[in-house]
Amino acid sequence: GASILLTLKLYFLFHLIIVWVFPTKIVLLITTRFGDDWKKCLELPPKDTRVKTSDVTSTKGNEFEDYCLKRELLMGIFEMGWEKPSPVQEESIPIALSGRDILARAKNGTGKSGAYLIPLLERIDLKKDHIQAIVMVPTRELALQMSQISIQLSKHLGGVKIMATTGGTNLRDDIMRLDETVHVVIATPGRILDLIKKGVAKVDKNQMVVMDEADKLLSQDFVVLIENIISFMPKNRQILLYSATFPISVQKFMSKHMQKPYEINLMEELTLKGITQYYAYVTERQKVHCLNTLFSRLQINQSIIFCNSTQRVELLAKKITQLGYSCFYIHAKMMQEYRNRVFHDFRNGLCRNLVCTDLFTRGIDIQAVNVVINFDFPKNAETYLHRIGRSGRFGHLGLAINLITSDDRYNLKNIEDQLVTDIKPIPSSIDKSLYVAEFHSVDAEDGGEEKA
Ligand SMILES: *[C@@H]1O[C@H](CO)[C@@H](O)[C@H](O)[C@H]1NC(C)=O
Ligand SMILES: *[C@@H]1O[C@H](CO)[C@@H](O)[C@H](O)[C@H]1NC(C)=O
Ligand SMILES: *[C@@H]1O[C@H](CO)[C@@H](O)[C@H](O)[C@H]1NC(C)=O
Repeated sequence: GASILLTLKLYFLFHLIIVWVFPTKIVLLITTRFGDDWKKCLELPPKDTRVKTSDVTSTKGNEFEDYCLKRELLMGIFEMGWEKPSPVQEESIPIALSGRDILARAKNGTGKSGAYLIPLLERIDLKKDHIQAIVMVPTRELALQMSQISIQLSKHLGGVKIMATTGGTNLRDDIMRLDETVHVVIATPGRILDLIKKGVAKVDKNQMVVMDEADKLLSQDFVVLIENIISFMPKNRQILLYSATFPISVQKFMSKHMQKPYEINLMEELTLKGITQYYAYVTERQKVHCLNTLFSRLQINQSIIFCNSTQRVELLAKKITQLGYSCFYIHAKMMQEYRNRVFHDFRNGLCRNLVCTDLFTRGIDIQAVNVVINFDFPKNAETYLHRIGRSGRFGHLGLAINLITSDDRYNLKNIEDQLVTDIKPIPSSIDKSLYVAEFHSVDAEDGGEEKA
């Protein structure tokens, strides 16, 4: 009898703990956690089986369900085929949900759009009918792409009103559209400013601004517009800024308009520190001759020479060999396996010179390369940085020489400005201590800092 009584007592005690001591919410949570039936009804797209790079795969192992998102939003996320948050999403989502400003360095193709659209949509309050979030992008294409993703993500959220507005479309249509409820606006800066100034788009209660490709948005062409737009918003608006690079323009904007932003940087920092950069002004026909002169005058340990096309790589490699210098070449049209082998051999010092197209997305990390030559000058700063820059780990010295034709002059100026760096005309003799290790007595890393 006593033991039955004890069992009963224990049972009641247990019951008491489960139902009364733990808040009912937890019990609910436990029961809903097991009620994952909704997942069975999702219309999932076919699995993406393409090989992924570490930009996307090296995560902390979080799940979208860890962020306490609305189930309807989770449904949208899974139906996009997004299974787990990418690294930039893992960093962004919880912080953005908390309302803090974010400054994130991320490329496209790494889940950047999800990183801001998920918290943005989660925070939309459907009971309010004013504009609550604005996403600013530099181009019409990106605006359309982002609005499409937002619409898909919010498919089950029941009534989030999303509007894309860009230059080059009918202004009157946009004005009529804004007569109805709009929660999220995805816009290029010129058009949205126009609508704000006309009093059509009311942003005085807007709580969130996202800037995608902020390095472009904050370039000279746009920055005045952006500051103007922001001035119409409440003081405590949240700003999320995503950019592939952090030029001075972005830093200036940050210190002026953002409050202790949470900084995310998932890109390996490439730096031009310790690299001396020169340009030689030539015509197209003088390029090979010029290269020959460089080979004979410079003390090259190993060099990489960049061309702008597969065909030009092959032609130049042939010319260099004819001139009597050893060289390997690789370009994008070669089999990856073969490319790897050539690169491996070059790294091991089997050959002094390598001619190639843009293949390195993370900078060249070969210590022995002390000269990089842009036989064809790149068109944008990012490519330039990837060709010439070194990751911080190898704080060593080097020389970068750019062959510039009259067509490249504008790009040269532009890239110098964007990277806040100095590319000087090549002098008749180059001090060896700038790029030849043996001539450099101090520890390379300190020396690099000094020269920078
Ligand atoms: C990806 O990023 C690069 C560099 O920021 C940009 O030029 C390009 O247009 C972007 N592509 C897409 C599809 O957004
Ligand atoms: C590569 O450079 C050459 C010479 O400057 C130019 O004629 C050609 O149009 C360029 N090709 C590309 C794809 O930029
Ligand atoms: C020069 O290159 C060779 C391989 O080609 C390498 O073993 C050597 O360390 C390099 N010297 C310097 C100073 O980098």
